[in-house]
Amino acid sequence: MRSFTVAAAFAALAVANPLPQEIDWAAVDALTPIPTVTIPVVDVSAQASTVSYEPSAAATSVEAEVKASGVSTASAGLKARAAVTCKPQPTGAGPVPTPDTPDAFLAYDYFSATANAAQTPSGYYNTFTNLNASNNAYGYMGYTVLSEYSTQTCADKCDAIKGCAAFNIYFERDPTVNPNDASCANPGSTTNIKCVFWGGPVTTDNAKNTGQWRKDFHVVIAGSNGYVSNKIVTPPGYSTPIYLGNAAINAPFDCNGNDTYLGVRIFQSGPFDISKCAAACSAQADYARAHPPANGNAIKTCQFYNTYMLMKNGEPVGQYCALYDHSWPQSYATNFGQYRGNDKYTIEWSYIVSNATDAAPACLPKA
Ligand SMILES: *[C@@H]1O[C@H](CO)[C@@H](O)[C@H](O)[C@H]1NC(C)=O
Ligand SMILES: *[C@@H]1O[C@H](CO)[C@@H](O)[C@H](O)[C@H]1NC(C)=O
Ligand SMILES: *[C@@H]1O[C@H](CO)[C@@H](O)[C@H](O)[C@H]1NC(C)=O
Repeated sequence: MRSFTVAAAFAALAVANPLPQEIDWAAVDALTPIPTVTIPVVDVSAQASTVSYEPSAAATSVEAEVKASGVSTASAGLKARAAVTCKPQPTGAGPVPTPDTPDAFLAYDYFSATANAAQTPSGYYNTFTNLNASNNAYGYMGYTVLSEYSTQTCADKCDAIKGCAAFNIYFERDPTVNPNDASCANPGSTTNIKCVFWGGPVTTDNAKNTGQWRKDFHVVIAGSNGYVSNKIVTPPGYSTPIYLGNAAINAPFDCNGNDTYLGVRIFQSGPFDISKCAAACSAQADYARAHPPANGNAIKTCQFYNTYMLMKNGEPVGQYCALYDHSWPQSYATNFGQYRGNDKYTIEWSYIVSNATDAAPACLPKA
């Protein structure tokens, strides 16, 4: 059941774009944009909802077809509900400012003070503090309503969800009754404390959701903080991932003038998962060993990869996974993104990983 098609696709991609220092535009162009997710409104039947993800199944699936399994869209879990008018909504745990207006909510000192004072849970790093917007990040994994603004509780819940890699915690101004009728078009508010889980990084760039109108009621957001996990599981048989931040490996030809780049895979579903790239690397190596070059040239097997979130104008394109037959040191992480016309492509959450038993360090070219 070893995937012929997968490795063949790698071979084709490597030939299509032999330039290791560039984002592989041919691969990027072949993608369909990821649809954005609307986070469900809080109501009685949905105080919490999460999306399940099975990492080992995803890795198996990647090996079989380099294809992720798992996450569906947020709307999949929402059932059509009978249109009861002005139905009372659950009371949130946060305070309601006086006067009870959207402007007062946004200006309420308690929210900004709470957000600014929040501790960064261990195992996470803080990406933004006290925004008036929530995220549309990569890989929606559900949300929960909290009884207090606790970054630790939110982190604990994220840790318990397979594939959860980031969270966004904030105060949300919600209606006390469902404003689905003229008789209750702009009801009083309640403040929910929301904790939303993501499979990819939450950043200021993707914190764009400033709320919405529900009839005449204005849902707004305040005290929004973002945290990204730095706990990346080491895939079996590979070295501990090295974090490169927002830079990708820019590999030159090696000291012999050989190109060490093998090709790229871009994953567009499921959470960011370093193991998917490991599976692709091993699958490429297996294929290459089974199909040695007819002309007797050395077999080029994947021993090293660089995986990261590729962003286009702040929106996720997908999890990029570049494969190499030799390992490059961190000092070659010099690609901080590229412009293509007016579009700005950036890199987030970049990691390099080597084969644990045979890292095959690249022979570095003379400077
Ligand atoms: C949030 O809204 C308040 C009130 O309008 C404003 O003072 C504050 O600057 C806003 N924060 C951000 C990050 O835009
Ligand atoms: C690491 O490299 C060795 C030698 O090329 C290979 O036998 C092994 O399968 C590789 N490990 C993984 C996890 O791919
Ligand atoms: C790299 O180049 C050297 C010298 O030109 C050659 O002998 C070797 O087989 C090449 N290695 C690979 C992996 O292609």
